[in-house]
Amino acid sequence: MKLNRTHMCGDLRLDDADKKVVLAGWVNTYREHGEGLIFIDLRDRGGLTQVVFDLEDVDEDTVKQSRALRREDVIAISGKVRKRIGGPNPKLETGEIEILVTQLEVLNKTETPPILPDEHEAEKIGEDSRLRHRFIDLRRPRMQQILATRHRVTKVARDYFDENGFVEVETPCLIKSTPEGARDFIVPSRHEPGQWYALPQSPQIFKQILMISGCDRYVQIVRCFRDEDPRADRQAEFSQIDLEMSFVNRDDVMNMMSGFVMRLWQTVLGYDVGDIPVMTYAEAMNRYGIDRPDLRFGLELEDVSDLAAKTDFRVFADALAKDTGCVKAMRVPGQLGTLTRKLTDGYSEFVKQFRAGGAPVVKMTEKGLETGIARFLEPVADEVISRLKLEPGDTALFTADTWSIATKALGELRNKVARDLDIIDKGLWKFVWVIDFPMFEWNDEQNRWDSMHHPFTSPMPDQFDLLESEPGKCVSAGYDLVVNGSEIAGGSVRIHQPDVQKKVFTLLGISDEDAETKFGFLMRALKYGAPPHGGIAFGLDRLVMHLVGTDNIRDVIAFPKTQTGSDLMTEAPGPVDPAQLEELHITVNLPEEQPAGA
Ligand code: AMO
Repeated sequence: MKLNRTHMCGDLRLDDADKKVVLAGWVNTYREHGEGLIFIDLRDRGGLTQVVFDLEDVDEDTVKQSRALRREDVIAISGKVRKRIGGPNPKLETGEIEILVTQLEVLNKTETPPILPDEHEAEKIGEDSRLRHRFIDLRRPRMQQILATRHRVTKVARDYFDENGFVEVETPCLIKSTPEGARDFIVPSRHEPGQWYALPQSPQIFKQILMISGCDRYVQIVRCFRDEDPRADRQAEFSQIDLEMSFVNRDDVMNMMSGFVMRLWQTVLGYDVGDIPVMTYAEAMNRYGIDRPDLRFGLELEDVSDLAAKTDFRVFADALAKDTGCVKAMRVPGQLGTLTRKLTDGYSEFVKQFRAGGAPVVKMTEKGLETGIARFLEPVADEVISRLKLEPGDTALFTADTWSIATKALGELRNKVARDLDIIDKGLWKFVWVIDFPMFEWNDEQNRWDSMHHPFTSPMPDQFDLLESEPGKCVSAGYDLVVNGSEIAGGSVRIHQPDVQKKVFTLLGISDEDAETKFGFLMRALKYGAPPHGGIAFGLDRLVMHLVGTDNIRDVIAFPKTQTGSDLMTEAPGPVDPAQLEELHITVNLPEEQPAGA
């Protein structure tokens, strides 16, 4: 490159008029005007600047080269800044100026680009095509802005936690499997045929060991791997801002993390988060049917089991006959919009994916309850109306099953109704800490307890006795941070007493032998002076999703994977050389190919 860049394409303003500058970047748009003028919007990471070739004023070679320029060619130009002749362009930050070119250097011609890094085009081009050509897609200003925001988030995290005495420590990627509830990615060992490493689902045990090692406060921006199906807010390979603190209780951790979130929203968005409210798991479930409630709208749930018991409705009776059977209801005020028959019919189908049988409906009119299950509700119509505070024009939706199914199904339906009626104010930030989770959930299929969080979470200090007597009632020292219905962080105070850890493993159906093979090192470490400790992990990708306003996690990851876990640009996963497999003593038995059309 002969020309030496002096500015970025977003830098120049009217104050710079008459300066001689050199810019470099990609040809974003190209227009030739009849009067012997060529206009190019030149783009780099910093923005766009209009550059003008006056073909009368430049040498013949430059005329030729400038005429041959096409979108996405890479060039450098030198020239003089001047006030934009055609009047300011309000669409560009540099719209008051343009550069009159004196010299052009073509740095690289492009072949016809398969896609263009154009915001309008991005909507039309399928995501697969954008991911396949990510090297071009990432040139879009929006994507550059997202990468910059992601950088800002990690910078704020490092600064904030450094100011608060945290030390960044790296933990290994080739580890022994740590149970976090998902499937592991595994890596074969060459030295020990038949033995496997796992990629960390999180650095959970390592950060606890660091506390036992006297590290006191740990932070790491770390990649985690979970072999589960990607979703809109989930990737198999994602990042956490992972933290652990010694000699703390639940409030200490939550206060420290609230401070981080305040700093982050203030720095990136200039938004004051204020005090973050705290809600118990039971309250979240009862009022919103979900442990990550979206508090940007109302539509609260009510338990109407007692009223349902007074009706002859079979669906209610069958549900109430079940262990923990219950009937939940939700008032949808008429002034929020109309729930058409088509919508409410769809809701019965919708709740089936959450194992509820359907979502019966009733409408409130001037005359009282009508349509849907009105006639079944007749004996308790007045009580239903007053319990749900129904007014003419309102709709009430119901679910009936075990407490867990009825509550969760109506909670999911609550979110769907809010989306359908478009009542969510996108400008709001509703943070909430959810605490007092149960330690365990009963697993019917396996006939044992499962951890609600993970096996290293401690009970609250006054709950230890319940581990023996009533594990199902034992409340954990776990906490989740939720914003706008999305879980952005989760953590807990940990078990630091070896006998308690053993007891929890036993409840989870982990035998002493299994505990020794899987966590022998943790059990030994706990015996030699483990301080009380607790921590949390933020989902970095999710934080960035909120801060840039996207609901697609792939937008905030430079090189993401598709729904089926492939990287379309590099075409990973791919085959390996048979010699590599042989060295690892691996034989692959693929299922026989199905005959076509089978
Ligand atoms: P947990 O499993 O709750 O806790 O994860 C913490 C946070 O990480 C984010 N997250 C994900 N983001 C994208 N894709 C995924 N597949 C994914 N899974 C989780 C979420 C979640 O809140 N070791 C514990 C933390 C601790 O106890 O300190 C852990 O990993 O935002």
